[in-house]
Amino acid sequence: MLVLLAGGAGYIGSHTAVQLLDAGHDVVIVDNYSNSSPEAVKRIAEITGRPVRAYEADVKDRDAVSRIMQENSIDCVIHFAGLKAVGESVRKPIEYYRNNIDTTLTLLECMNEHGVRNIVFSSSATVYGEENPYPYIETMRRGSCSNPYGWTKYMMEQILEDAAKADPELSVVLLRYFNPIGAHASGRIGEDPQGIPNNLMPYVSQVAVGRRDHLTVFGNDYPTPDGTCRRDYIHVMDLADGHVKAVEFAARNKGTEVFNLGTGTPYSVVEIVEAFERNSGVPVKYEFGPRRDGDLAEFWANADKAREVLGWTASRTLDEMCRDSWNWQKQNPEGYGN
Ligand code: NAD
Ligand code: UD1
Repeated sequence: MLVLLAGGAGYIGSHTAVQLLDAGHDVVIVDNYSNSSPEAVKRIAEITGRPVRAYEADVKDRDAVSRIMQENSIDCVIHFAGLKAVGESVRKPIEYYRNNIDTTLTLLECMNEHGVRNIVFSSSATVYGEENPYPYIETMRRGSCSNPYGWTKYMMEQILEDAAKADPELSVVLLRYFNPIGAHASGRIGEDPQGIPNNLMPYVSQVAVGRRDHLTVFGNDYPTPDGTCRRDYIHVMDLADGHVKAVEFAARNKGTEVFNLGTGTPYSVVEIVEAFERNSGVPVKYEFGPRRDGDLAEFWANADKAREVLGWTASRTLDEMCRDSWNWQKQNPEGYGN
């Protein structure tokens, strides 16, 4: 299949591109490099030994996306092209709604114009909101989100579901990611956040490599075993494998299906720091600080549906996640900026 990866130069898109190519599919990447680098595309080609077609374009630009679909006979779209920083979304809500909703509408319009019937969407566990009990399961209703980023995911899921209801030929797969970390085992591609990282693992690895002095652990008074928050961390390569299964599933089915992509096992912030130290051999200085607004004490996935329906399970361990995150960070201390 020929898969168009909107936002395919980013963290999850680049790993998915490698796994799709290795599984024998072809990819076309469309990215405006607002949060990534063309260097990632070169490295995908280097890892796989396959040429990678990439377009620098804004996925909100209807003419550009239409032209790309005209030039390439696309079987499936994966929509990664979103802004994703929670704190920034609170400060710049209009930018987040504009980018995330508009890219989705543009892709759907162009797919309709060019007869592309399958779309896989990067959603998030954040759509379970604050009300649902954990582990989260796909049959739960979406909850209320604590920030504009989360609401864009909520709305995009709704838009895609409505589009599939109106068009019986359309296949929509909503993938709700838990907490992706790790990198390709080669250390050639990985997560390269701009500025100060918001997420835990990039922060931990930047402390280890000497770019930051210490980690602040946000809260140690939660009702969890060690008082720090617990999350369902998943290796980005397992997540990428989930996309290969999702693309193949979309081609065989119609309508909307939702899948959690997680491991089903939570780890605390302190457990992550300890696992990272164990696997890197580098100490990570940390201090306890106040809770971060909007954080939930803990949540994790019920990942049964993906196993039963897609035949997918996360197989990589926490040690592999930490080893691979460190391997990427130490080989690329400044990310792709090297
Ligand atoms: P990322 O920022 O590394 O990748 C997103 C890519 O989309 C970037 O390459 C960026 O340049 C591109 N992009 C953004 N807007 C664009 C536009 N208008 N036109 C063209 N390209 C555009 O992020 P990621 O971690 O790879 O996440 C991919 C998707 O998964 C996002 O939608 C994100 O919200 C979602 N997601 C990520 C996580 C996570 O923890 N990383 C968790 C849940 C959901
Ligand atoms: C966050 C977002 C979520 C988004 C996800 C992936 C919030 C409230 N949620 O999830 O919407 O889908 O990222 O992009 O921001 N931590 C520290 N110190 C740090 C950084 C993080 O202690 O410097 C802790 C957090 O409190 C949390 C855990 O580490 O308990 C994981 O944090 P993070 O990587 O930001 O992911 P989430 O908060 O789960």
